[in-house]
Amino acid sequence: EDLDLGGYPHYMAKEIQEQPESVERIIRGRLDDRFGVARLDGLNLTPRELRGFSRVKILGCGSAYYVGQIGATMIEELARIPADAEAASEFRYRNPIIEADTLYIAVSQSGETIDTAFAVEEIKRKGGRVVGLVNVVGSTIARACDGGVYLHAGPEIAVASTKALTNMAVGFALIALSLGRVRDLSNADGQRIIDAIRALPGQIKSILDFEPEIAEHAKTVAAAKSLFFVGRVRGYPVAREGAQKFKEISYRHAEAYQTSELKHGPLALIDESLPTVAVVPSDELTGRNLAAVQQIKARGGAVLAVTHAGVDFGELDVPRIVVPKTEPELDPILLTIPLQLLAYHAALTLGYDIDKPRNLAKSVTVE
Ligand code: AGP
Repeated sequence: EDLDLGGYPHYMAKEIQEQPESVERIIRGRLDDRFGVARLDGLNLTPRELRGFSRVKILGCGSAYYVGQIGATMIEELARIPADAEAASEFRYRNPIIEADTLYIAVSQSGETIDTAFAVEEIKRKGGRVVGLVNVVGSTIARACDGGVYLHAGPEIAVASTKALTNMAVGFALIALSLGRVRDLSNADGQRIIDAIRALPGQIKSILDFEPEIAEHAKTVAAAKSLFFVGRVRGYPVAREGAQKFKEISYRHAEAYQTSELKHGPLALIDESLPTVAVVPSDELTGRNLAAVQQIKARGGAVLAVTHAGVDFGELDVPRIVVPKTEPELDPILLTIPLQLLAYHAALTLGYDIDKPRNLAKSVTVE
């Protein structure tokens, strides 16, 4: 087992570092520069069928569900089809309406999560078309789906998922590109996204190079008993996943909110003892995000920002983790990476069992 660790202290550390290569693997052979499109033959869908869908519903559990939310936003932005993500664990209990013109996407690292497998079964029983975004080849969910895109993230051992989630997000970008290019996404816009996808491995590597700085931030946040993670639109699922990772391995209470919702209640909790990790990308919402950061600071709350170069915090005393800018639609992929390292180093500081956190299993195969 130690050999498999390849010199890393934990599988989670190893899997975080493997991300530049694992992203290379999911995109290999799938980007077509001639037509600015992704080639996803495994979906088993003709261009005509792809064009026939008028809605997308994504199903997954836990972090896979949060990445599903990232995927839904990408699909809405690039393909302009209504898309949303739902917790697969709830789906079949609400007697869901299955529509013939909806593309269902089941997302799972293990391919064995029972709630997601049952959601797939429910869709199929009612005649829906479901494809998988799955890591483990030949797994239950991969076999049950009508087609799919394998993540090729390689084996993931740590209970807290990292590289598989990143590949899920990249997989959604590929699917969004395919759906977009049979609709109104232009060849030039397709190429813009392809170029950005190709740059991701190098950009991820540059974030990982900042690990020592992120480890210092982690020491500060690990001292708090409770913290908020906030983001808006593209940044909200990033915040949810950041909080999830933090809870899973550092056992700290971490709660995610839409930044815009703070003033509708949670702001009452802000004081010196409750820090906030704020996702503040350089995009059309930067000004509004900065205004919220200012409100938190005015109430004595500490803020750590995950942001882009050029975002002007003015007089605000806010420590920052700066990630490289990609195309706006893909920003969540890179914004998530430092939050993995933040959780990892917080757990390291606190001395917890990083690869096997209490009460959790790598794959939940019973209800
Ligand atoms: C991620 O860190 C979690 N351990 C968990 O939320 C996980 O993503 C979820 O249980 C789904 O697992 P799957 O991707 O194997 O279906």
